[in-house]
Amino acid sequence: MQVQLESFGRRAEAALTAALPDANQPPERMHEAMRYAVLGGGKRMRPLLVYAAGSALGAPLQRLDASACAVEIIHAYSLVHDDLPAMDDDDLRRGKPTCHRVYGEAMAILAGDALQALAFELLAADPALTEIDPICRIKMLQTLAAACGPAGMAGGQAFDLEAVGKVLSLAELERMHRYKTGALILGSVQLGALSAEVRSGELWLALERYGLELGLAFQIQDDILDVLASTETLGKQQGADQARGKPTYPALIGLERSQQLAKEHMNAAIDALRPLGADGAILEALARFTIERGH
Ligand code: IPE
Ligand code: IPE
Ligand code: MG
Ligand code: MG
Ligand code: MG
Repeated sequence: MQVQLESFGRRAEAALTAALPDANQPPERMHEAMRYAVLGGGKRMRPLLVYAAGSALGAPLQRLDASACAVEIIHAYSLVHDDLPAMDDDDLRRGKPTCHRVYGEAMAILAGDALQALAFELLAADPALTEIDPICRIKMLQTLAAACGPAGMAGGQAFDLEAVGKVLSLAELERMHRYKTGALILGSVQLGALSAEVRSGELWLALERYGLELGLAFQIQDDILDVLASTETLGKQQGADQARGKPTYPALIGLERSQQLAKEHMNAAIDALRPLGADGAILEALARFTIERGH
């Protein structure tokens, strides 16, 4: 299992390195900023989910590369913008200075914009996907758009910014987390399924439930680690949420209940995998890793 995950990780790294524009081609500085934001760091959770979900349903690996790159590139762009002074104003990301600290705010904004477009281009243009049912191909583009659009990551970031300094209800906080982080986690799993031409039925619904539960667990755990982990293990500033009055699970319901809730959602994600039988083993390992990471 570990060996399989490591091999998926290496595959994602190689595919990302090849997918990004050459830093020697103009506009060099923007290309450099894009590569800086994406390469050399991060757990690669979203590409791992694409490979794990897709191969659990029988999709060949070369059909999963474009989706794996697309979700990680969208994620990296979201981090570049999330760290900007106008948003979370962070200086450290993946153990390095944030993109805007190195390349300036304007270039970081542009690098993020370009990354977002590149993600869609990769998915739309990949020759390995021409063999897939066209309905699934269109649904893949729609899935990526939904994951990062107004009812996904960008919408969730808007809820997040509006909530600073306010006390949200638990339902509002859950919605914010499902949008800002859960949507792209769910989208990663769905892209894996669509690459295997699965777009309805028992397995589709099982993976949908898995993605929804895992997505929420993932952001609750991110909130928990902001309190518990060290800056060194996180690769980002510990305690930043509290310092900025961010709405988080530990702030609203306390650390212990947050840990309990994260675990409940992880278990629900694992339960959802039942129809996959033994084919769900890697997805189960990724769910466990979500909660066990970072301590
Ligand atoms: C951090 O995501 C931001 C969230 C959406 C919670 P990750 O914890 O996946 O960050 P990397 O990719 O490993 O750096
Ligand atoms: C980020 O949430 C969600 C994104 C869409 C980027 P956070 O602001 O909690 O992520 P970190 O803690 O900075 O990685
Ligand atoms: Mg944020
Ligand atoms: Mg942040
Ligand atoms: Mg956080």
